[in-house]
Amino acid sequence: MIAFVEGLLPLFAAHDPSHFPHVDAFLAYWERVRARVARLQGSTPLLARVPVGQTPLMELPSVGGVELWAKLENRNPSGSLKDRIVLYLLADGIERGLIEPSTVLIEGTSGNTGIALAMLGAALGYPVKIFMPDNVSAERRALMEAFGAGVALTPGELGTDGAIEAARQAHDPPRSCWLAQHENPANVLAHYDTTGAEILEQCPDVAAFVAPTGTTGTLMGVSLRLKERDPEVEIVAVWPEEWIMGLRCPVGDKKPKIYDERLIDRVIEIADPDAKAAARELARRFGLLVGPSSGAAWLAAQRLAREYAARGRGGRIVVCFPDEGARYLSTDTFLHESARTQNDTRREPRS
Ligand SMILES: Cc1ncc(COP(=O)(O)O)c(C=O)c1O
Repeated sequence: MIAFVEGLLPLFAAHDPSHFPHVDAFLAYWERVRARVARLQGSTPLLARVPVGQTPLMELPSVGGVELWAKLENRNPSGSLKDRIVLYLLADGIERGLIEPSTVLIEGTSGNTGIALAMLGAALGYPVKIFMPDNVSAERRALMEAFGAGVALTPGELGTDGAIEAARQAHDPPRSCWLAQHENPANVLAHYDTTGAEILEQCPDVAAFVAPTGTTGTLMGVSLRLKERDPEVEIVAVWPEEWIMGLRCPVGDKKPKIYDERLIDRVIEIADPDAKAAARELARRFGLLVGPSSGAAWLAAQRLAREYAARGRGGRIVVCFPDEGARYLSTDTFLHESARTQNDTRREPRS
């Protein structure tokens, strides 16, 4: 019952009181959303064969007898874990009457959610418009446009927050619908229903889950699911020491409405250069091309494992690798060493 009483229900009740007046209304909605997600997946030739989610766990070298397992979210159809939440946000919007067949789906984002929305919008036949800072990497914009999404640029100096605000202002249902990943608890529900459930199936005796924070949806949903089975599971948030592309520290005015710090047991901070070096190491040692947030998560998981080993504690740690590396090829994560040191100008806007 943790998920309903302490987690999901209060989030939904605060988000849209008219739709979720009591537990029964919420449970009925939840059932309909899950059925809708299954129908959306089955309704396109691509998604019916290349499903969202069901990503593999890959074993990484253990540390002092503590096992490390990476959840490869880069293996989702659009290359990141955001496919999961876009399906749920869509199902939520349809079930709450905000989305009709011709509704323009909008979001303010500089990264993975925009690419997931552009791809899934194309597969499902919805027009998509992304609001994005004008200084994000060229390949990211090209990817969204390749899927036919409209891209509206917002001032780079306002970062992702400027793009989010532009999307909020464009929200005009049912002509357009802002998916609002930072505030909509369907983001958390997606990870409770899918990512968390998959981890329990793939690694039933998981001792800790480590993931980076952006909207915090991954950590919130997985924490609710894992702690429901075993309240002792340790949930570890990875925050950028200063800045890491795609990540945010959920504090102050950056705190997403879906974030509940009680669902996190501890925070490990990682520096940007270390995250990038770890992403390069994953590519070169294992042939695994993932983004810098995966590098950060791996470093944090190794740090946690060393602590467990020092305390004579064994166990298995699952670590989330959120996205694929190809979308960072023009950035200083993967540029050739000499180019990287000569030209460190291709940094993304800080959010
Ligand atoms: C590259 C990357 N890693 C990790 C995350 C974190 O995911 P979440 O939004 O579920 O906290 C994000 C989210 O935007 C991201 O873009």
